[in-house]
Amino acid sequence: MSKGRIFSGMQPSGKFHLGNYMGALENWVKLQNDYECFFSIVDLHALTSAYADTSKIPENIYNMALDWLSAGLDPEKNVIFVQSKVKEHAELHLLLSMMTPLSWLERVPTYKDKLQQLGAQGKDINTYGFLGYPELMTADIILYKAGFVPVGEDQLPHLELAREITRRFNNLYSPIFPEPQGLMSEAAVLPGIDGRKMSKSYGNTIPFASSPDELRERVRMIITDPQRIKKTDKGNPDVCVAFKFHKLFNKEEIVEIDQACRSASIGCVDCKKRLAEKMVHIMGAMHVRRQEYEGKPEKIREILEAGTERARKVAAATMEEVREAMHL
Ligand code: ADP
Ligand code: NA
Repeated sequence: MSKGRIFSGMQPSGKFHLGNYMGALENWVKLQNDYECFFSIVDLHALTSAYADTSKIPENIYNMALDWLSAGLDPEKNVIFVQSKVKEHAELHLLLSMMTPLSWLERVPTYKDKLQQLGAQGKDINTYGFLGYPELMTADIILYKAGFVPVGEDQLPHLELAREITRRFNNLYSPIFPEPQGLMSEAAVLPGIDGRKMSKSYGNTIPFASSPDELRERVRMIITDPQRIKKTDKGNPDVCVAFKFHKLFNKEEIVEIDQACRSASIGCVDCKKRLAEKMVHIMGAMHVRRQEYEGKPEKIREILEAGTERARKVAAATMEEVREAMHL
């Protein structure tokens, strides 16, 4: 039996990487067996930063769907759909925006941080939609009356706000929405090949779409103990980025690798070769699935259309209740 309903979404940025997989998708693939899941490619959210050039959106949506399917999301078990194709997201967002105090939105920490960060780069991103991001996120979740949202720690303030907005709606009109609960994932933050957090903004990613050879090439570039120059130097795994990867992808050999590094019986090149082969193996099933879908845009379009159709039904039913509660 299902433990409840989940909503989660991801922006189609076109640069899905292994960190995104480890931090979110891997967890979704597990959750799909226990929950009724709505997974949305949230292209409207992508407009908060990409409104000036929207030409890549269709291609990015296609690639994100391909990434999700390769990762093992099952289009039969889950409702996989494109946010902008379900117009009720925009409608509910508008209605929620009427009843949300501006101060609630302005105090979201990520809003203040991003504003400072981007303002420093001279980018004028302080648009109405950018401020209203959590408002749209709230609409996304409650439109499906989702009880659960998988979140990382960084998203907790957004979820708290979503719960507040939901309570406000329920108090003002009619208690039709469950207050969404966070499902905390224990996913580790994956470092990039340079040791900072893997992020598309740092250019340090391992693209999730990498072929086995591309994967080997990126792994070869992972930085190791900077003090270790020659193969005969003894290494320190504690400061080695490749070792962090071994911890995540090669747990079985971790003790042996640790010893071999400290005693210089294995060099960094060979150590990373072993890591690469392990990762190629782990990603094998995903690579096979990708090849099944690749070059079949028709198949992907069908999956997204079927998902969108299922999402629309639920969304339309919710909006009828909302309209009635609000006398619209
Ligand atoms: P990026 O940092 O590349 O811009 P996003 O902010 O678009 O990535 O993140 C999308 C999802 O992937 C979020 O759920 C985020 O927590 C997760 N994520 C991103 N980078 C990592 C990482 N290096 N390790 C684990 N999870 C990550
Ligand atoms: Na980010």
